[in-house]
Amino acid sequence: MSTRWTIESHDIVTSTMDLARERVRAGAGDGLVVVASEQSAGRGRRGHRWESPRGGLWFSVVLAPRCEVSDAPPLTIAGALSLVAAISDFIPDASAARALLKWPNDVYIAGAKVGGVLGEVAQSAIILGVGVNVNVAEEHLAEPDHYSATSLFVEWGSGIPLASLLERFLVHFDRQRALVEQSGLADVLSDWQSCSYEFGKTVIADIGGDRITGVVSGIREDGALRIRIPDDTERVIQYADDVCISVRGSVEES
Ligand code: BTN
Repeated sequence: MSTRWTIESHDIVTSTMDLARERVRAGAGDGLVVVASEQSAGRGRRGHRWESPRGGLWFSVVLAPRCEVSDAPPLTIAGALSLVAAISDFIPDASAARALLKWPNDVYIAGAKVGGVLGEVAQSAIILGVGVNVNVAEEHLAEPDHYSATSLFVEWGSGIPLASLLERFLVHFDRQRALVEQSGLADVLSDWQSCSYEFGKTVIADIGGDRITGVVSGIREDGALRIRIPDDTERVIQYADDVCISVRGSVEES
């Protein structure tokens, strides 16, 4: 069954996550989408600040009721797949760089981060926060110290309507969510493989100082990343692990 989306639009907010949480506390149901033109205190994963200037698409989606914390990683990955698909609907021509999903929830174009998805549990709901640098000029992009940022405008040289990108996201997410709810990540695995930044590549993963090198072989049902290491055993990076992954030979490798 398709989700009935209700869109609540704002100009400036602290964070659409905060507002969505308030709405959940007040009894908001499934399908509420809180959108803002700007956020003064946007947040990313692991407590990072998320710069959210005008021109970007910043929104949170309420998925309710969801009682299990373990539903959050698969649904967040479904959100990230939908974001890649939505952005891909607007690629201006065949030669433009593709949007790819960097595990677990980051969207990259040409080696730089253009957007990301954050999953939070709030009472019996899951809130997905989605941020994309859409029509953001280079001088207004954040300069995070752990990755380089870009925008669709910087990559493509032309803007796209924020409302159209949101609409495409919701169309794709409806499908991805239904698949994940029916049978977990198994049914979206081929979608993941075809847009993964790392799948089949040799990566270096730094897990709190423990560095491993291996080839990314897939994701598990719980969202964990599988890496085959040279002695032919498998290492699993948990969804919640604080890990830095770089593709060997890419500019980000340090
Ligand atoms: C990440 O890559 O770290 C996730 C970024 C998620 C940012 C979005 S913008 C809309 C929503 N509100 C927030 O404060 N964060 C999310």
